[in-house]
Amino acid sequence: MTMRALRIHEFGGPEVMRFDDVPVPQPADDELLLRVHAASVNPVDYKTREGKFGPVGEDQLPLTLGRDVSGTVEACGRRVEGFRPGDEAYAMLAHDRGAFAEYVILKEDEASPKPGGLGHVEAASVPLAALTAWQGLFDHGGLQAGQRVLIHGAAGGVGHFAVQFAREKGARVHVTVSERDVEFARRLGADEVIDYRSERFEDRARDMDLVFDLIAGDTQQRSWSVLKPGGTMVSTLGPPSEDEARAHHARGVGYMAEPNGGQLAAIGRMIEAGSVVPEIDATFPFDDARAAETHKQEDHVRGKVVLRLA
Ligand SMILES: NC(=O)c1ccc[n+]([C@@H]2O[C@H](COP(=O)([O-])OP(=O)(O)OC[C@H]3O[C@@H](n4cnc5c(N)ncnc54)[C@H](OP(=O)(O)O)[C@@H]3O)[C@@H](O)[C@H]2O)c1
Repeated sequence: MTMRALRIHEFGGPEVMRFDDVPVPQPADDELLLRVHAASVNPVDYKTREGKFGPVGEDQLPLTLGRDVSGTVEACGRRVEGFRPGDEAYAMLAHDRGAFAEYVILKEDEASPKPGGLGHVEAASVPLAALTAWQGLFDHGGLQAGQRVLIHGAAGGVGHFAVQFAREKGARVHVTVSERDVEFARRLGADEVIDYRSERFEDRARDMDLVFDLIAGDTQQRSWSVLKPGGTMVSTLGPPSEDEARAHHARGVGYMAEPNGGQLAAIGRMIEAGSVVPEIDATFPFDDARAAETHKQEDHVRGKVVLRLA
């Protein structure tokens, strides 16, 4: 049996993505085969396509893109205990597989039951961005109730989850966004919303316990001065400078988000309870996957862009 998959055979612009017919994969003992209903687009997809995502080199081509998925379990390996065919599941995938395909293999420990009440499009928008926010704030940033956090890029895929998680934790949340997202950031629960184009965040954010940096460059560089001594800079864009960390008596952490079915289940419970809400910017049919990726890469996007497959 074959399926359609959106693959790259070389690195480059959107034109290198093409639909191929490939065999439907077979699950190993600890794996599930998922029929994909929806898959969302993340910056890692176009960075991978351009050859700018470090862990994926030429030797891994051809490669199916897509790291976020929601769908129905089609088949289970012998040792899978938590899922049965017909269950609805969602997951972030490791970079060795791709969700922009009609079927995909999940490891059981990557997968979580899809949150009740959420459609596949909404569910597919969650895993990678929400896990990145969760792991950055809590596993690497150690954010506690009552602490002060500054989140740069708060209206994007990762940022809009981070604001909601930090608010739910009971932190005081400062954010930077562009002007059109000021109201959106307030609705998410940010206490201090800074328009990064017209204001200097240093003037309004001080004595931060944590800076969660989704932007890097000059934004990160200027952020050291808003941390209090002993504070932490967590970045999704590589390890912050050790020299700067030392000079500011702070800690710098770079990290790569990882699939985690248990954390995804906890996030799903917050979504079911209505305390966290995913924001969808746009949905596209699978046939328009190139346009979806270009939209995410080039246009101002609030929240997530999702592909509908079934
Ligand atoms: N290490 C990891 O595991 C990991 C995981 C996920 C993501 N990432 C990386 O983290 C970054 C964010 O990911 P994402 O999915 O949230 O991206 P995204 O959805 O594209 O969001 C980025 C947001 O940043 C805003 N922005 C741009 N320049 C800004 C500035 N100077 N100050 C404040 N906000 C600014 C954009 O708004 P405007 O368009 O209005 O400017 C947009 O809302 C990406 O570079 C991604 O590759 C890394």
